[in-house]
Amino acid sequence: MFAPSVQASVSVWRRSQWGYGEKVNPEVSSSERLVDRLGRTTIVDPLADAIQPALRSALDGTGPLAPLKDVLHGTPLNHPLHPALTDIPVGAWSLAAVFDCLELLGRREYQAAADLSIGVGLAGAIAAVATGLAEWSDTMGEPKRLGTWHALLNTLGAGAYVSSLVLRSRGRRGVAIATALGGYALVGMAGYLGGELAFGLHVGAKHVAPPLFPPSDFTPVLADAELPLGSHKRVDLGGIPVLLSRGASGAVHAVAAVCTHRGGPLDEGEFADGCVRCPWHGGRFSLADGRVIEGPPVFPLARFETRLHDGQIELRAFT
Ligand code: FES
Repeated sequence: MFAPSVQASVSVWRRSQWGYGEKVNPEVSSSERLVDRLGRTTIVDPLADAIQPALRSALDGTGPLAPLKDVLHGTPLNHPLHPALTDIPVGAWSLAAVFDCLELLGRREYQAAADLSIGVGLAGAIAAVATGLAEWSDTMGEPKRLGTWHALLNTLGAGAYVSSLVLRSRGRRGVAIATALGGYALVGMAGYLGGELAFGLHVGAKHVAPPLFPPSDFTPVLADAELPLGSHKRVDLGGIPVLLSRGASGAVHAVAAVCTHRGGPLDEGEFADGCVRCPWHGGRFSLADGRVIEGPPVFPLARFETRLHDGQIELRAFT
């Protein structure tokens, strides 16, 4: 199961927005151009292509990490876990940089605090790496490449911090501090790419189809007779794609038809046991209330109030 084109379509959007080709929109900053180039250069593809399939088979189906998959994505929390965990190393290493600078200014009493902060950052980085790899495992195209650069820079940064700790243990504090500050710069660059992945390419963000606000008055969307028992249909509610379903009891349910993970078309998914399985990465949602039953999605689907009126199925936002 794999998303055919959502990441690719994001890349197309970025390029058309930026007028890509040889003509770059002059309004685009040099850092954005660099990010775009990193996203398009294929130099990291062999590395990513070697790691990603093994990672996916470990996380999917009967793979050894499959029981951890939902936790790594943050599904039980209804919130992506990776961005929250990255705060641990970033925060700890920021403190270490402050303590190191104080030491350079002659305040040697901050040495132990700096060393401890680096250790805490490294411990937090392990959890951040695990959740980040799970997030990256189902990316394609530009997000996959940027994610690879993000991981490479973070790996170099963490390596610098490990070296710095070793140097500190040998009493070579000056070189150790310089190494740690170098690691901080690398982690900062990695963080910039992480922000681009989350906010520019929406990896890990909630996907919803615009417009965001459904009508507050009941709106007819389908003749009741066109939704027999056990069937489902995609309908339009004021521009919002909605998945209508009617279970064995005859009750009609209405949830958003766009998967909150990466925007997969849920009406093309598999329907069983009162749930729909997304055709792209296998996330499963309850049709009755939109809850996430199985990751990688973390956010539930929007649901809509239903009623039958004059032979029509009508929907509106829950009030
Ligand atoms: S788009 Fe990934 S599970 Fe639906």
